[in-house]
Amino acid sequence: MNKLVPMNSLGSENQRVLSGMRPTGRMHLGHLHGVLKNWLKLQHEYECFFFVADWHALTTNYEQSRDIEASMWEMLVDWLAVGVDPGRARIFIQSQIPEHAELHLLLSMVTPLGWLERVPTYKEQLEQITEKDLATYGFLGYPVLQAADILMYKAGWVPVGEDQVPHVELTREIARRFNFMFGREPGFESKVEAAIKKLGKRNAKLYRELRKQYQEQGDQAALQTARALIAGNQNLPLGDRDRLLGSLEGTGRTILAEPQPLLTEAARMPGLDGRKMSKSYGNTIGLRDDPEEIEQKLRTMPTDPARARRSDPGNPEKCPVWEFHKIYSDQKTRDWVWKGCTTAGIGCLECKQPVIESVLKELKPIRERAAEIEANSDMLRNVVSQGCDAAREVAHDTMDEVRQAMGLKYR
Ligand code: TRP
Ligand code: SF4
Repeated sequence: MNKLVPMNSLGSENQRVLSGMRPTGRMHLGHLHGVLKNWLKLQHEYECFFFVADWHALTTNYEQSRDIEASMWEMLVDWLAVGVDPGRARIFIQSQIPEHAELHLLLSMVTPLGWLERVPTYKEQLEQITEKDLATYGFLGYPVLQAADILMYKAGWVPVGEDQVPHVELTREIARRFNFMFGREPGFESKVEAAIKKLGKRNAKLYRELRKQYQEQGDQAALQTARALIAGNQNLPLGDRDRLLGSLEGTGRTILAEPQPLLTEAARMPGLDGRKMSKSYGNTIGLRDDPEEIEQKLRTMPTDPARARRSDPGNPEKCPVWEFHKIYSDQKTRDWVWKGCTTAGIGCLECKQPVIESVLKELKPIRERAAEIEANSDMLRNVVSQGCDAAREVAHDTMDEVRQAMGLKYR
């Protein structure tokens, strides 16, 4: 993966990744190929924070609040079992960092209602999820809670699926609004002037010229050059660099950095019936399912309906087994499937055999590690407690700045 540089002011230095998952219990192949494998890659390239969004579960499942804990530990076992590495990534639990609630509250004050009502998932879920009463304050405000999660860690990147991109967009808008409102500290202009002087004569002149070109003519190249100029002055205090950026871009000081969504080009992992793999469809293969159960599920999974008999040729594009081959098989095997299927040269059970073997092979070490982790629950609790400590440290600092910017740091 190439390291893109986010295009927001402060964020150009920010290589922190943050992502969260609701506590949904044991993970399945959809989670593994859609999300977790991406996390495994990211943890080598970025400073990663991965957390359990347990309060988010409450926004829709408040009546089952007592189920959250068990689901959470099951999920965490699987995170570690697949290789999320506490030596590289911080793993924590949202509700153990109460600062998330404080930031949520403060952000909620400046978030226009219309922004929330326009979030696509809001109306959709209100209409689709009829078995629960989602006409609550918490459900409407859920994207603000997510914004607080992200902004708390000044994450530059948020790996999410397609459906979550509007939430990251909203987070950017909230950050921008917050910075605009509270980033103009008293005496901002004179502090900017003082910061410019610290650049030295030549650079100060250059900065003023570039700022003028950008602000008067919208010159993007000038903006880029000026940003680089500021970033290049690492000996300038961070506060001053923020002010220079804020003055350049016509905002205030950046208190909350705008994140970017990091779209996963994840393999599409369909369920056993070809629909999205999801517990609610009952079409999953769990990472810790018994091998016999997995084999049984795959053997009985539907194939191209046109192949009612062994002698009928089929079309892999109409068969969910083919989707599994795309993920699990090499080119040679896929050629064999394609030819065998379209000419009725192979039977469906025969075709499934390499998939069965690959899935079992992939899951064996995961199942074994999960058993070890379960047997050593102290280890897991330690990992999480250390992750929470690290998260709390960042959250503490962010809230300090936020309260300061809003004038809420009373002495
Ligand atoms: N809203 C996400 C979901 O339902 C979970 C989540 C909460 C999240 N906070 C987050 C994801 C922050 C990324 C970043 O799947
Ligand atoms: Fe599907 Fe394979 Fe059967 Fe073709 S041969 S229908 S790809 S299972």
